[in-house]
Amino acid sequence: GFIVRENGEEIFVHQRSIASDGDRNQRPVLNDGQQAAFNTLGLVGPALVQTSSRPELGDYQANGVMAAAKRAQRNPREVAAEVIEVLDLKGIASTVDIAGPGFLNITLAADFLAGVTAGEITASPAPQRVVVDYSAPNLAKEMHVGHLRSTIIGDCIVRVLEAQGHTVLRQNHVGDWGTQFGMLLTYLQDTGANSDSLAYLEDFYRAAKTRFDEDEDFQQRARQAVVDLQAGDAHALDMWQHFITVSMSHCQEIYDRLDVTLNPTHIQGESAYNDALPGIIQQLNDKGLLTQSEGAQCVFLEEFKTKKGETLPVIVQKTDGGYLYATTDLAAIAYRNKELNAERVLYFTDARQALHFKQIFAVARAAGFADSSISLEHMPFGAMLGDDGKPFKTRAGTVVKLAELLDEAELRATRLVSSKNPDLDDKTAAELGHVIGIGAVKYADLSKNRTSDYVFNWEQMISFEGNTSPYLQYAYTRIASIFAKGQIDLSTLPMQAIAVEEPERRLAVMIASFNDTLDAVASEGMPHLLCGYLYELATRFTSFYEACPILTSSADVRERRLVLAKQTADTLRNGLDLLGIGVVEQM
Ligand code: ARG
Repeated sequence: GFIVRENGEEIFVHQRSIASDGDRNQRPVLNDGQQAAFNTLGLVGPALVQTSSRPELGDYQANGVMAAAKRAQRNPREVAAEVIEVLDLKGIASTVDIAGPGFLNITLAADFLAGVTAGEITASPAPQRVVVDYSAPNLAKEMHVGHLRSTIIGDCIVRVLEAQGHTVLRQNHVGDWGTQFGMLLTYLQDTGANSDSLAYLEDFYRAAKTRFDEDEDFQQRARQAVVDLQAGDAHALDMWQHFITVSMSHCQEIYDRLDVTLNPTHIQGESAYNDALPGIIQQLNDKGLLTQSEGAQCVFLEEFKTKKGETLPVIVQKTDGGYLYATTDLAAIAYRNKELNAERVLYFTDARQALHFKQIFAVARAAGFADSSISLEHMPFGAMLGDDGKPFKTRAGTVVKLAELLDEAELRATRLVSSKNPDLDDKTAAELGHVIGIGAVKYADLSKNRTSDYVFNWEQMISFEGNTSPYLQYAYTRIASIFAKGQIDLSTLPMQAIAVEEPERRLAVMIASFNDTLDAVASEGMPHLLCGYLYELATRFTSFYEACPILTSSADVRERRLVLAKQTADTLRNGLDLLGIGVVEQM
């Protein structure tokens, strides 16, 4: 990679081979020689190298020169010329041209492209230990759509990080502790503790709550149950364990259906930190961070001053001695830092928890629960909305059961493939329906910018048109059918080919930027960058295939096009796999 800086600001960055997605620039990796070359230019500092909006002029374009020249009050074309002079792109680019008022258009060299078009995932040069905190449903109730987003997005990031050689520690921080369990256990006790009664957790919760609100004696016993549980009473713990096991098995069923990589060994719920909580309070006290306010133990940090001049507290212990969500999260940070030796912790929750994480990260730093070796990153996401633009609910206004949502996805996809292939037997149709239906639900979520709300729409997500998972799966089967038709033995194809004609080159450029895209996905926790990449790849393949016949071409042309087709198929399959989505051989 290389970089040009001016006034400490990066104006031109180029990582590994090329920048990835049009809407973001890359973090640089700079060697000393390159740094020295740029220093002599007097330019220090992000360049906006992005895929070109005018591919006929170049594969990539860099726009940073103009802003830099403006700041230096110099002629942008002159600065551009100097940048080109020190920009040693031998072996990478065939041409770098200045266009308009100082854009740089970069065309990649054919040899370079051939060298990187392997379609494989490059190992990170600096592998890390990364905790990924995701899914984390509350076990008192059924998993809902908010946990669906966390589960799907988190699992994609986990897959990408692992594929790059990072050590990923999945932490399913389930809500398995707290006062509501007193009520649930007491109700379980009263109704008979068989698994049937917990088959519909949502109904069970509602019934328990009704009893709690109406029956004073029940309330009394529920409160006592909490005390017993906290005190480690064997019977209370037994009941609790039974409840958690049943509830967790519901979640595991969803994970399995979704082909999510979470399993019971990743559970490290709130209850796991229970014994550490008094020590957390103690340490906060020792550091002089604890203040009593209205009977509660709080931490006030200067940086959380509101506009009115009041400081927002982080409450860590209630008046009755009970601990809070924040206290548990502080204990979890200390554990991840000191015991797991994580260098990075990624939290996938909805955006409404943004302040919570800001606060606990700050408190953890101040108290020394997190030292400088660890990076704490909240990866917030928006809400899933219904067609009416309101939070996604059933028509009756109740939470949508995930199991039912997935049933419908599979049913719709099965119907779709059956209508396209009337000869399919039911078993095959159901198998395809599973891969396509689940893929559609996941992709609809992953392809949207994580931070925004999105509208859940069945028609759109199960369509073969547009940026959808069926479109990509179909693109894959189309390439597979070319190989089948030509009876191609893929193992006899060379690994690399030199793209010659423009549609070939455009496809090769896209294949070559796979790893840059993955770097951006991993560092920003943004799966939509990979979706956008795969969609563009499939689109470029279509243009290539329309312009460049494969099977009917003369031997050497045919071979290099087959190689490009294979690399496209491999990249599509690997990319979909990183999204946690399968491919099928026919659709
Ligand atoms: N159980 C929480 C919820 O449903 C999410 C937990 C996220 N992880 C964490 N370490 N706080 O909102």
